[in-house]
Amino acid sequence: MTDSRKSSEKSENSKTSRRDFMRGSVALGAGVVGARALLEQGPESSSLEKWFGVPSAEAATRRGELSYEVPPGKLDDYYGFWSGGQSGEIRILGVPSMREIKRIPVVNQDAATGWGRDDYSRKLLAGRTSGDTHHVHLSYTDGTYDGRYVYVNDKAGGRLARVNCQTMECDAVTDIPNAQGTHGIFPQRHKTGLVLCNAEFRTPQPNDGRDLDNPEAYGAMHTAINGETMEVEWQVLIEGNLDLCATDYQGKYSFATCYNSEGGVTLEGMMAADRDWLYVFNLPAIQQAVSRGKTIRVGESSVPVVDARGENGEYVQRIPVPKSPHGVNVDPSGAYAICSGKLSPTVTVVDISKLDDVFAGRIKPRDAVVAEPEVGLGPLHTAFDGRGNAYTSIFIDSVITKWNIAKAIEAFNDDSVDPIIHKLDVHYQVGHTNASMSETKDADGKWLIALCKFSKDRFLNVGPLHHENDQLIDISGEKMKLVHDGPAYPEPHDCVLVRRDLIHPEKITPRSGPRFDYYESLAKEDGINLEQDSKVIRKGEKKVRVYITSVAPVFALQEFRVKSGDEVQIIQTNLDSVEDLSHGFCMSQHDVNFVVNPRDTRSMTFIAGKPGVYWYYCPWFCHALHLEMRGRMIVEA
Ligand code: CUA
Repeated sequence: MTDSRKSSEKSENSKTSRRDFMRGSVALGAGVVGARALLEQGPESSSLEKWFGVPSAEAATRRGELSYEVPPGKLDDYYGFWSGGQSGEIRILGVPSMREIKRIPVVNQDAATGWGRDDYSRKLLAGRTSGDTHHVHLSYTDGTYDGRYVYVNDKAGGRLARVNCQTMECDAVTDIPNAQGTHGIFPQRHKTGLVLCNAEFRTPQPNDGRDLDNPEAYGAMHTAINGETMEVEWQVLIEGNLDLCATDYQGKYSFATCYNSEGGVTLEGMMAADRDWLYVFNLPAIQQAVSRGKTIRVGESSVPVVDARGENGEYVQRIPVPKSPHGVNVDPSGAYAICSGKLSPTVTVVDISKLDDVFAGRIKPRDAVVAEPEVGLGPLHTAFDGRGNAYTSIFIDSVITKWNIAKAIEAFNDDSVDPIIHKLDVHYQVGHTNASMSETKDADGKWLIALCKFSKDRFLNVGPLHHENDQLIDISGEKMKLVHDGPAYPEPHDCVLVRRDLIHPEKITPRSGPRFDYYESLAKEDGINLEQDSKVIRKGEKKVRVYITSVAPVFALQEFRVKSGDEVQIIQTNLDSVEDLSHGFCMSQHDVNFVVNPRDTRSMTFIAGKPGVYWYYCPWFCHALHLEMRGRMIVEA
């Protein structure tokens, strides 16, 4: 704890410019000491820095002192996409300020926007209201983010969801058949192609009540979903539990860490063997098996399944790694897949260029391992700076270990080489870590996030449930530097940091896509122009549709009449085209409340209550007369 406290004190002084200034001035006055201080700053220090002790931006970067302050009116350099864990959402943070800019409801219900309760999102979520989002990854083209989609897993529901970056709204949710605990996901990186999804929980295959106690019949699926259509293309059936997932940069291989290669169904049974595997999937070979029909069907699903249980072969190779590995990450050069030990203090470096030989049987799977450095107790995930260094999160030690990949490869055959560069205390028990652009070929080595599972004493005491602590670390210099603690509502698992020039959302709703197809289909049926008409349409004995437009600060309908017990569908269109001018619809006493953004349409359905007058109002502040933006629903007996 003392060490932790020491570095926490250090981190409180992270606004070092004033301290450096003081130190620099003293050094200048102190002759020899001053000369050494200048030498340490390097020959390129600006004269300003040399003579007055003021660090130039360039010199500061060299030493690892990026500015993380983003003053009012300035924008962050990175979009940070965070998963929301049990909250079922995705969050967007600005990095380096760590300001939370947006929450995107995905597999949850959200009272503010009506997500999970409005008609379209209920359809998308098939009536489910919760989920567990762990891993966020964006779509790629040519090894870097193309700014089109964000994918996220739902571990609880066994689903893959997608957010469209045009509106930053969830636009697709895919149920994965024969799979429970969908955990690691990763999109292909050469183009927006497949998104590979790992099932963490082995289940009987098929899971229909037979084989409940027969571990032999258990298996897990590595599933390929088309990143454009979001349809399931194929699955590979495998014996062990699949944990994290990664892809190469060529579109040839995907990787999955596997624990429980023993095939146990109890904890004891799962931990028996000393070694588990890194599964390597040969995507073109699997694709070929699928197109040639060398597949099976499992259960009620019509998705083709390649059964790759048992021996290594043309579809799957198993690289032995120390038991219960967790993360697998591919470095920005695309050369290495790095697999973190979790129960072993090592990370295993696999040379991807050797995998063709492994599949061809020219070398053994283990021969693809080119390094296995010791990085600390409980290594989980690895991030990269694009300069050949790796940063591994170490859960039990609560540190981030910075190590050099090339040196680790040297050290594999030469004990005298030490690949470890620096260890930084984090607070406490770090899970995922990720760095700016780390999962792309454009990794830029500026910022690293440590997603700590416990915040303990780092924030004001707010009762038994603590926020997590997402820490911002400057990795621009030789040594890492902790600069910011960020409380996060439970429980982000992972995040990616994306350069801001790669993301271009719309400010006004583009009236297109499957959600609008749905509203247009209603309108067409009723002869309505959504952008002009406000009308009450009776759809039979017990069903009413209310089309209503809004322009600040009025609804086009000041009142409408329905009968008690009617199923009422409100379809509201916001005609304002002004940035940030959202309206919404709240019906008193009816549990109806949703947002309608500029030029958007949304709908929600409810049952009209007892006879009487019910006020509806716009719940979003839109105008000086926002409070007056309301109307009466008159419910007749
Ligand atoms: Cu419209 Cu408030």
